[in-house]
Amino acid sequence: MADLTIKETVRATYGAAALKVLGGERGSCGPGGACGCDPVSADLYDAAETAGLPPGAVLASLGCGNPTALADLRPGETVLDLGSGGGIDVLLSARRVGPAGKVYGLDMTEEMLALARANQAKAGATNVEFLKGEMEQIPLPEAAVDVVISNCVINLSADKSRVLREAFRVLRPGGRFAVSDVVCRGEVPETVRRSMELWVGCIAGALEEQEYRRLLQAAGFVDIDVEPTRIYEFEDARAVLSGVALDADVLAREVGGRIMGAFVRARKPMTIPA
Ligand SMILES: C[S@@+](CC[C@H](N)C(=O)[O-])C[C@H]1O[C@@H](n2cnc3c(N)ncnc32)[C@H](O)[C@@H]1O
Repeated sequence: MADLTIKETVRATYGAAALKVLGGERGSCGPGGACGCDPVSADLYDAAETAGLPPGAVLASLGCGNPTALADLRPGETVLDLGSGGGIDVLLSARRVGPAGKVYGLDMTEEMLALARANQAKAGATNVEFLKGEMEQIPLPEAAVDVVISNCVINLSADKSRVLREAFRVLRPGGRFAVSDVVCRGEVPETVRRSMELWVGCIAGALEEQEYRRLLQAAGFVDIDVEPTRIYEFEDARAVLSGVALDADVLAREVGGRIMGAFVRARKPMTIPA
């Protein structure tokens, strides 16, 4: 699949998801619910966490984890959320870093940015800025942030190695990469990899765990860790695959237990070898 076609399809899909939420519905984007409904995005946040957030931020949640809960965010830090969508993780991070900190949300989809900015205004968050741009070319200078978070977005890129190099560039020395993403263990069938619907649904583009580690290391990261947070077993896989023009039962048997929501951590070293 051509990179440009993937990007335009992703943009159109998430633009439509944002418009749904702006119209008062819950956002969804993938076939059978991947990246937007059960079993990938359900119950990621507890009620106490989302209390006080604008309903539009919660309805727009299309992630596969809760990076803000797992990342160790401290008051005064600067955070960047890659593919910030409706802004749920940006607003949660903004509470954690406090008024002395700052949170950037980066998204390439105009409708998502409109939704995120509306949610920011409703939340009254003044330490937040949403930027339009692509995570393959982050519109920030080098060493600008302490932490890069992201929730179910890196799998959507056709050039993941570039995204990871960009995350490394914008992090300060010692900065942390703390990302929730869909990751697979072992090979995923070619029919799944070729499905555009499953790509925008966060499954087909998922990196294999060892490849994720290798790309992070190649970008310069150290202390790399991939921790499963939710493993999609047969029934989950079938729910995700249903609605696509593929035999869901057969493929779910093949991929069940091998695709997971994971928390991926790494660190930019304090000094970079010449
Ligand atoms: C699955 S949604 C996740 C949104 C949000 N992180 C959440 O947890 O609700 C993916 C988001 O990433 C954005 N996105 C996808 N590819 C992108 C890219 N290459 N650069 C910037 N944003 C991108 C989409 O516009 C969409 O808002």
